Amino acid sequence: MSDGNGGILKAVDLHKVYELGKDNLVHALRGASLTVRRGEMLAIMGPSGSGKSTIMHIMGCLDRPDRGEVWLDGHRVDNLKSGALNQVRSRDIGFIFQGFNLIPTFTATENVALAGEYAGLARRQAKAAAVKALRDIGLGDRLDHKPSELSGGQQQRVAIARALVNGPHIVLGDEPTGDLDTATSQEIIEMMRQINTDTGTSFVLVTHNPDVADACDRKVCMRDGLVTEEEVCT
Ligand SMILES: Nc1ncnc2c1ncn2[C@@H]1O[C@H](COP(=O)(O)OP(=O)(O)OP(=O)(O)O)[C@@H](O)[C@H]1O
Ligand SMILES: [Mg+2]
Repeated sequence: MSDGNGGILKAVDLHKVYELGKDNLVHALRGASLTVRRGEMLAIMGPSGSGKSTIMHIMGCLDRPDRGEVWLDGHRVDNLKSGALNQVRSRDIGFIFQGFNLIPTFTATENVALAGEYAGLARRQAKAAAVKALRDIGLGDRLDHKPSELSGGQQQRVAIARALVNGPHIVLGDEPTGDLDTATSQEIIEMMRQINTDTGTSFVLVTHNPDVADACDRKVCMRDGLVTEEEVCT
């Protein structure tokens, strides 16, 4: 289903205030709007503290705005009840984080399968889907390895397999190459680009890395809680 504007994910006039104390309010978002086009790879850049993670969390249904709307695939999602919101998040959205966020005592397969189970798959189905996702990403020979037995690039590939295991409409990455060296970053970004081309899955990547932004179709900038289209974004 479409919202008529070709947007797969849309944020409209988002406001978010964090209350650190009675007289200490942080306006993290001040009316941020952003449309992610269907099938695109979009980079979000901008200085530290400009609201990038906050908007990603809200667009990814991990948090709610104080004001404004979020639309996913033509459906409004910010006002859903918790159960429905969790369902949308686990089925339709994939997440990739800077620190990989893998469970250290779980194997690669178990880490990926868990995301399948959260989305409602039976254990056996989730395991089969995890093995396929890991093979697709070139980790078929590392299925039973724990995170500590994998390189940083391999751990991030497990995280990508986990993000993709439920066939999401969109993948959101917050500094997905932040903990990787230059060569490994390049490998991971090329892999995401390939997945985008092969499957049409949209990607939104928050990044400080200009190479990642250059590999994307489009770039926006965040500044003081607003999304802007500045060319130079530091
Ligand atoms: N849970 C929180 N409680 C209070 N303030 C917060 C919280 N999360 C974020 N903030 C504040 O909101 C503003 C935006 O933070 P956000 O994490 O979105 O920035 P960012 O652009 O992702 O920065 P970075 O590039 O450093 O990751 C910052 O001023 C930050 O200190
Ligand atoms: Mg951040």
